[in-house]
Amino acid sequence: MKKYALSVCLFAAVFNVKSQSNMNVDQKVSTLLSRMTLEEKVGQMTQISVEAFLKSTNGKLNEPHEFDMAKLTEAISKYKIGSMLNVGGDAQTLDLWRKRIETIQKLALKERIKIPVLYGIDAIRGNNYTLESVLFPQQIAQAASFNPAMAQKAAAVAAYETRAAFIPWNFSPVLDLGRQPVWPRIWETYGEDPHLVTEMGKAVILGYEGSGQTIDKYHVFACLKHYMGYSMPLSGHDRTPAWIPERELREYFLPQFAAAVKAGAKTVMVNSGEINGIPVHSNKHILTDILKGELQFKGFIVSDWQDIQYLYQRHKIAVDNKDAVMIAINAGIDMSMVPTDFTFCDDLIALVKEGKVSMSRVDDAVSRILKVKFEAGLFDQPAGNAKDYPLFNSPQHNKLNYDVAAECITLLKNEDQILPLAKGKKIFVTGPSASSMRPLNGGWSRNWQGLNSNETEKGKNTILEAITNVFGTENVTYSEGATFTEAKDLKDAVTKAAAADVIVLCIGEDSYTETPGNIDDITISAPQIELAKALAATGKPVVFVLTEGRPRIISAIEPLSKAVIHAYLLGNEGGNVIADVLAGKINPSGKLPYTYPRHTNSLTNYYHKFTESLEFDPTAGYNPQWEFGYGLSYTTFTYSDLKVSDPTLDANGELTVTVKMSNTGKVAGKETALLYASDMVASITPEVKRLRAFQKIELQPGESKVLTFTLKSEDFSFINNDLKRVTEPGKFTLSIGGLTSVFTYQ
Ligand code: BGC
Repeated sequence: MKKYALSVCLFAAVFNVKSQSNMNVDQKVSTLLSRMTLEEKVGQMTQISVEAFLKSTNGKLNEPHEFDMAKLTEAISKYKIGSMLNVGGDAQTLDLWRKRIETIQKLALKERIKIPVLYGIDAIRGNNYTLESVLFPQQIAQAASFNPAMAQKAAAVAAYETRAAFIPWNFSPVLDLGRQPVWPRIWETYGEDPHLVTEMGKAVILGYEGSGQTIDKYHVFACLKHYMGYSMPLSGHDRTPAWIPERELREYFLPQFAAAVKAGAKTVMVNSGEINGIPVHSNKHILTDILKGELQFKGFIVSDWQDIQYLYQRHKIAVDNKDAVMIAINAGIDMSMVPTDFTFCDDLIALVKEGKVSMSRVDDAVSRILKVKFEAGLFDQPAGNAKDYPLFNSPQHNKLNYDVAAECITLLKNEDQILPLAKGKKIFVTGPSASSMRPLNGGWSRNWQGLNSNETEKGKNTILEAITNVFGTENVTYSEGATFTEAKDLKDAVTKAAAADVIVLCIGEDSYTETPGNIDDITISAPQIELAKALAATGKPVVFVLTEGRPRIISAIEPLSKAVIHAYLLGNEGGNVIADVLAGKINPSGKLPYTYPRHTNSLTNYYHKFTESLEFDPTAGYNPQWEFGYGLSYTTFTYSDLKVSDPTLDANGELTVTVKMSNTGKVAGKETALLYASDMVASITPEVKRLRAFQKIELQPGESKVLTFTLKSEDFSFINNDLKRVTEPGKFTLSIGGLTSVFTYQ
C-alpha cells in the first residue's frame, strides 16, 4: 500500500498540460511542442532497445534483468529518448516488468519537459515476454478459425495482460499477406487472402485498442506491420528483394492496411525489405504519399529493427549513417528503432542544423508521436497499478485460450472416419513435436526464437501429456522416432507402433522466426519422411498431426496417412486441444488460411489466374495438396437454395445473397461458408475467384439456417492499369458451398 502511494506521488508531477484539461489533444501537442528544444524533439523520435541499459556478466545479461542505471540515465537525461522496446533476451516476471516501466518513467518525468516514455513490445498473441502470460494460437492458426469475433476476444486478453505489465504499445498485428509459403514469417500472418487478413486485422485492432479514440488501462495501441509488401520476397527468404508492381501492391497488399488505418490504428511499422530495388525505409511514395497522404494516416511510422542503419550497412543506398537518417526521415519515418546506440540522435540533430532535414518534418514526426502518448493516457498514468489486473493468467483467460485453439485446429483428412478414436484404443504417439512445447508455440515465445518453451511452459501439456491424460496411461506408448533433423531409435518406434491400434505421428517444424527460419527446401525434413514410411510399413493406421508455421510439403507421405490434423502453432492449449480432437470432444471447424502446396515448384495461391489452372496447364497447374478454405468436420454440412436478390447490380445497388446450410450429420458442428466471386472478363486478367465474404455458424444435427450476405459494387472491384479501383461491367459468378449463380454488373 505504502509503495503504491509513493509511486502515485512520484508520477503526479507529469507535464503540466495535464492540468490544462480544457485543451483538446492537438492543442496539448502543439503547446508542448512549442516548448521543446531540437534535442528533445529528436529524443522523441528515437527508440532504443532495453538491452542497451541492462547489466551483464561475462557477456551474458544478468538474470533476472538489472538496469545499469548510469546507462539508462544517460539515455534519458542526455539523449532525451522517447521510446523503448523489447525484453532484451528471455521473458521476465510481471513484477520485474512493472518495476522496469516505473523506473524508466520516474527518470523521464524528472526531466525538464516531463514526457513519459512510450514502451513497445511484441505481444503478438499474448504478452510473450512476460512469464506466465497466456500464449494464444499464433496468427496463422487464428486465421484458420475464420472467427474474427473470437480473435478480438483473444486480442483483448492479450492487451489486458500486456497492460498488466504496464506496457501500452503492441507491435501487432502483422497484416502482411501470407502468400509466399517459403517465407519464415508466414505463421505471423493471417494467411494468403486479403479479405480474411482485413477482417481479422480489424477485429484484432478493436480487441487491442477498444472502441474509443484513446485507450484505457486495459488496452494497448496496435502497430500495423510491416507496411507493406514485406511478405513476398521472390526467394522466400526473409528480408530479400521483392518485385511487386504498384498495381499488385494496391490490389493485394494495401487494402488490409487501409482498412486498419480506417479502423483507428495509430502506429505503423515499416517493411524491412526492398521492393523493386527500393528499400521501403527510403520509399517516400509508399510512406508519405500513400500512407500519410492517400490513407490520411494521422498516427506515426516507426522503422523496423535497425532498418535505418541497414540503408547503408546492407542495402547500400546511403553512404553512411547520417545519409541513411536523412533519407529515411525525409521519406516519412517518424521514429527510429535504432536499436542500441545514439547515432540516430547525433546525426538527426546535425542534419536539421545543416538544413538537410527540415524542422517542419521533425515537428510533424514529434507531433504524431506526442499525440499517441496523450491518447495512450501516458501523461495521466505513465505506468499502472498492479491491483488493476487480477485476471492476469486467470482461469478465464486460459479457458478462452482453449476455446480459441479449438476453433483453429483443422481436419484435412479422415479416411474411413478413423477419427475420433474410440475409447480404449491403444495409441502409439511419436514424432519430434509429440513431447515438446516449442513446436506448439513457435517463435516469439518468451524469447525471440521461442527456444526455451520447454522450460518456461512446463506447467502446460505437450501433445503426449495431453493424449495420456485423455486416453489413460495404460493406452498410450511413446517413442521419439526422429528429431526434426535426424532419425532416432526407429526400431523402438516401429516395435511400439506394431503393438498399438493406431499411430499418432506428430511432425512439422521446430520454433523459428525471421532470417534464422529461412529454408532452402519447403519439403518436410527427411528424417520425418523416413519415420512416417517406417511406421506406415507396420500396416497400422497413421494419424498425422502437423505442428508447423508454414505448409511443409508432405506429398511423399500423405498417402500413408489415414487422417491429417493441422495444428499450426496452436499455443499453450495446443496439446489439450489436439487430444480432445482425437477423442471427439472437440469437433474441428478450422479451415486452411492458405493453399497447402503439393509440389515445391507449384506454390500458387487460390486466387491464381486462369492460365495457372489445370485447364490450361494440365501438367503443373494449380493442384495443391489442399486448397485455401479446406477443412473437414466430424459432421457433414450441405448447402442448398442459393438465391441472389437481383440478376443485375449497378454502382449504387446492393445484392442480397442467401443460402441454406444444414447439418446433415450426427454431431453438432461449426462451419464457415465462404462466398467467392469470379469476374468473367476484365481489363486486367481476372483471378479464377476471390473470397468476398464469409460467415461461421454452429448447427446442431438436423438443424438448418439461412445465411444472408449483402454485397456492393466495390466487393467486385479491382485495381486497373491506371491504378484506379474499378468495377467493370459484365458477368460475375458467385459460388458458395459448391453452388453457383451468375449476375451482371451494369
Ligand atoms: C521484427 C518486427 C518486430 C521488431 C521489434 C523486428 O526484427 O521484424 O516484427 O516488431 O523486430 O522486436
